[in-house]
Amino acid sequence: MSDDIYPVPETWAKTARIDAATYAKDYARSLSDPTGYWLEQAQRLDWMTAPTLADESDFTEEKFAVRWFADGVLNVSANCLDRHLEARGDQVAIIWEPDAPTASPRHITYRELHAEVCKFANALKAKGVRKGDRVTLYLPMIPEAAVAMLACTRIGAVHSIVFGGFSPDALAGRITDCDSRIVITADEGCRGGKSVALKTNVDAAAKLSSSVETIIVIKATGADVPMTEGRDFWYGDLIAEADADCAPEPMNAEDPLFILYTSGSTGKPKGVLHSTGGYLLWASLTHELVFDYRDGDVYWCAADVGWVTGHTYIVYGPLANGATTLMYEGVPNWPSPSRIWQVVDRHKVNQLYTAPTALRALMKEGDSYVTATDRSSLRLLGTVGEPINPEAWRWYHQVVGEGRCPIVDTWWQTETGGQMITPLPGATALKPGSATFPFFGVEPKLVDAEGKVLEGAAEGNLVITRSWPGQMRTVWGDHDRFFQTYFSTYPGTYFTGDGCRRDADGYYWITGRVDDVINVSGHRMGTAEVESALVLHKTVAEAAVVGFPHDIKGQGIYAYVTLNSGETPSDELRKSLVAWVRQEIGPIATPDAIQFTPGLPKTRSGKIMRRILRKIAEGDISSLGDTSTLADPSVVDDLVANRVGKP
Ligand code: WT7
Repeated sequence: MSDDIYPVPETWAKTARIDAATYAKDYARSLSDPTGYWLEQAQRLDWMTAPTLADESDFTEEKFAVRWFADGVLNVSANCLDRHLEARGDQVAIIWEPDAPTASPRHITYRELHAEVCKFANALKAKGVRKGDRVTLYLPMIPEAAVAMLACTRIGAVHSIVFGGFSPDALAGRITDCDSRIVITADEGCRGGKSVALKTNVDAAAKLSSSVETIIVIKATGADVPMTEGRDFWYGDLIAEADADCAPEPMNAEDPLFILYTSGSTGKPKGVLHSTGGYLLWASLTHELVFDYRDGDVYWCAADVGWVTGHTYIVYGPLANGATTLMYEGVPNWPSPSRIWQVVDRHKVNQLYTAPTALRALMKEGDSYVTATDRSSLRLLGTVGEPINPEAWRWYHQVVGEGRCPIVDTWWQTETGGQMITPLPGATALKPGSATFPFFGVEPKLVDAEGKVLEGAAEGNLVITRSWPGQMRTVWGDHDRFFQTYFSTYPGTYFTGDGCRRDADGYYWITGRVDDVINVSGHRMGTAEVESALVLHKTVAEAAVVGFPHDIKGQGIYAYVTLNSGETPSDELRKSLVAWVRQEIGPIATPDAIQFTPGLPKTRSGKIMRRILRKIAEGDISSLGDTSTLADPSVVDDLVANRVGKP
């Protein structure tokens, strides 16, 4: 681990909104006077009724609640659109950069976006969508995705976005779980020159999920897709008929805003529910301070709206702040590894926010793809999703940012709504690989396995001891699971599932998940989910899945598979199992290695010893530890002998 320090550049210290002294002072106040601090911050939003209450949360089992600003009333779309119209109606809200560099970008002003959102909100109403109804979105990265999100918020509907890379099965499960009657999709998506059959997938999902009554289809590529009379409607037709006048629905701060499914350590993905007031405040405040967003800046978060990063930092945070947000349809390295930097140059991007996995993939191609571009517009760089290795950090800093741009390595989660441990560019001296310090109001602690709080320099499990406005409110349909998953391990605190080290200077270094969740290219995957998919295959008797270090993806997926008697291992079967998992969950769950094994290492009580499987997958066979408690220690020899070489 690296311990060299990058001080705040002088130009930044001079113009900082939050300098080191202000950070220390405001952070202390955010903890000592949370009500005063947060009611003051809340004024950055436009309330129909301003809140007089701030935090009423309680993490104990008896009084368990997460609740903020509970007497406040507001509307998210009014905050993201209407309130900007007077001062910046003609400013560009969304710059859309299409997948192919030869296609034309689109520039959508706040006034145009407002009109389109109002029309679509009216169209949704006409299709019977009411306040509180769930609407599933399965969309490519096109501006209409933001329109659909904001249109839902305008009428108080709860959106649930399903990433376009998920399979029809995974989509159907998510539609059914939140009982959506309506799905918004596109004919096709387009990423890296390849098309994604979104409408076809929705048709297949609708067969599996009986709740779907209406499908609205956006024409994105113009592909010929089948439309079912009475169920399927073209977005363009609905917009053409719709009125551009739609009053924003008054929403209580605690009313649900959106559901986003995420993987956990158990099989079924959880519907993480965020609420209206606290979430929007957290999105807006962190976006402004962490990225130092200033009027006139062009800001680019290169994520997908299918993930929480896209929700908070492509759409809600930037638009609440009246920013110009860039939305990119494609992937960072197509048609060439220069693409991301060419987009920066084309739109004169000032802040860029991306994932370490993308940086590692680009770094591998060599510096020339970067240095061939100008990048002088860049002022700040950010990363999110997984720990960044110091080598990639330095490359980002030196080669991409030419030593000029602070890097904000931001730690947070789907559950936290927005950034939690992060540098503030004008305040924080950086250490490559450290997410540095907590944001205002965030009180992190490290605990050992027994829950004892560790002080000073230490390594342990990361917990957060009090609520913050952006915290998730519940697991959709299963409030008890919300409590059990996050608040029962270390009573009275929110357990993040991450391991973390704090150094002698108080810097936080996230070390990765300590539960059965693996982080593949910055996306969370439950090992249990991949296992469930594998055992559904007719040849598979049993499966165990672990993560292993992967140069580009951060972690890869390693599956141990025991076949039913009579089945023979083969490369062909290996290929069909990989294809099977892709079909069951989606390409993001593609196993990197499959090892056939006659048996799994189990204790006498039948528990799989994952520790051993992880070691073997990592290739660390010299330190397998005590295997004597295994029911059949000889399986380990077989596992070691037939390890799949570094894939
Ligand atoms: C998990 C959350 C945050 C939005 C994207 C992922 C890991 C996230 C960092 C970081 C080290 C990080 C954690 C966390 N993670 N950011 N800067 N440094 N690890 O959201 O899918 O909910 O995953 O991503 O392990 O728990 P998510």
